[in-house]
Amino acid sequence: MADSQAAVKQGETAAPNKAPEAATSAPADGGTKCKNLEGAMGGMRDPSKTKEQEESDEEECDENELEDDDDDDDDDDDEEGFMGMLQNFLRTKLDLGGGGEGEKVLDEVSVEGVVKYIKSGKCKNIITMAGAGISTSAGIPDFRSPGTGLYCNLEKYNLPFPEAIFDIEFFKVNPKPFFVLAKDLYPGAFNPTPSHWFIRLLHEKGLLLRHYTQNIDTLEHVAGLPAEKVVEAHGTFRTSHCIGCQKEYTQDWLKEEIFKDLIPKCEECNNLVKPDIVFFREDLPAKFFELTQSDFPKCDLLLILGTSLTVQPFAMLINNVPPSCPRLLINREKAGSGDPMMGLLHGMLSSSGLALDSPRNIRDVALLGDCDQGCAKLADLLGWKDEYEKLIPCKAEKGEKAEE
Ligand code: OAD
Ligand code: ZN
Repeated sequence: MADSQAAVKQGETAAPNKAPEAATSAPADGGTKCKNLEGAMGGMRDPSKTKEQEESDEEECDENELEDDDDDDDDDDDEEGFMGMLQNFLRTKLDLGGGGEGEKVLDEVSVEGVVKYIKSGKCKNIITMAGAGISTSAGIPDFRSPGTGLYCNLEKYNLPFPEAIFDIEFFKVNPKPFFVLAKDLYPGAFNPTPSHWFIRLLHEKGLLLRHYTQNIDTLEHVAGLPAEKVVEAHGTFRTSHCIGCQKEYTQDWLKEEIFKDLIPKCEECNNLVKPDIVFFREDLPAKFFELTQSDFPKCDLLLILGTSLTVQPFAMLINNVPPSCPRLLINREKAGSGDPMMGLLHGMLSSSGLALDSPRNIRDVALLGDCDQGCAKLADLLGWKDEYEKLIPCKAEKGEKAEE
C-alpha cells in the first residue's frame, strides 16, 4: 500500500481466544507511534518466525524509527504521543485506574444508565466499533469463536498457522487459500444484520459520529450508511491493486477472476492482484489514522459490538475516548478488559481497557449476549422500537403483511 499511509501494521495482541493483555496496555495515542509490526502487534508472536528473525526485525524497527525522526512533524506528533502516554500513566497511577479517573456521566453504570444518558440529549457523538460478531447472524463466521470461528476451520488449506490466510508474506508465496476463501465469503451474498440496521438508525437519529469496522463484508454500506460515516479499518473488497505495479482493478474484474477459480494476475506486470483488505503486516488505511485522531477526543459514547478486541491497532482505540466517556460493550463475552492477574503483575499497565469488573468503574457497561438482541433491547429501551423494525427489511416486510 502507499507509503503515505501511516506505518502501523495490523497485528494481534494475544493468541487467539486469550485475554488481550497487550490491548489493555496500549499507548494512549491509539498506537500510531508504533512504527512496525511488532510494536503494533503488542506482543503477538508470528508463529512463522524464529526468535532470531524476530530480533532482526526489532533491529529493523529501530532503524525505521530513526529514519522517521528526521521528520519535524513526526517529532511534534511523537511529543504529543509521549505526553498522552505520560498523562495516561499519571492518571492511572494516581487513581490506580479502573475507570474511576473521569467525571461521572452515567447516573447508573448499567444498560439502563446508558439509555438514560442517550435520552438526556447530552450524548451527540456516538462512535461504534465493530467486529465480526455483528455479521455472524448474516451467515459469515467470525474468526476466533471456538468451533465455528474461521481460524478454527482452515484445516483443508494446509496452512502453517490459521492467520496465514491473511498474512501478506504467505499470500505472496501461496495466494490460493486466500482466493478460495474469498470466493466462499464473497461480499454480495449476504444481507446486513439487525445490528447493522441499529447503527444505521443511530445515523438517522443524527447521533453517529463514525462507525469503525474491522469487517470487510461491506454490510454497513448495504445497510445504507454513507461512506463518510464508515472507517473500514481492515480495508475493503471494493477495490484491488496489483502488489507489484499498484495498478488498480475494479470489484467486478476481481470477482470475475475469483469466480473463474483463477489467481488474479496483473495485466501489466503479471504480479498478484489483491483486494485492498489489510493483511497482517500491512498498513491500515490512511483514513483510519486521520479520523481516529479527530474523532475519538469528541466521542461521548463508545459502542463496541461483536469483537474480541484482540487485533491492533484497532483494539487500543477503546482507550482513546475521553476518560469520562461511557463505553458499552455488546458481545457474547467480555472483551477488552485485560487479565486481572496480569494487571496486578504489571501495575501501571493494568488500568487501560474496559473496567467492567473494577470497583471503581463509573462508565463501562457490558451487555452480554447476541449483538442483534442487544441492539433490539437498546432500541426498545430508547423507545425506538417501531422505527427500528421499519428499517430492518425482513421485519418491515412482516409488518406490512400483518397490516394488509
Ligand atoms: P473475533 O472472531 O476475534 O471476535 C468476534 C467476537 O464476537 C467474539 O468475542 C465472539 O464471541 C463475538 N460474537 C460472535 N458472534 C456474535 C454475535 N452474534 N453476537 C455477539 N457477539 C458475537 O473477530 P474480530 O474481533 O472481528 O482481520 O477479529 C478482528 C480481526 O481479526 C478481523 O478483522 C480479522 C482477523 O484477523 C483480518 O483478517 C482482515
Ligand atoms: Zn502490475
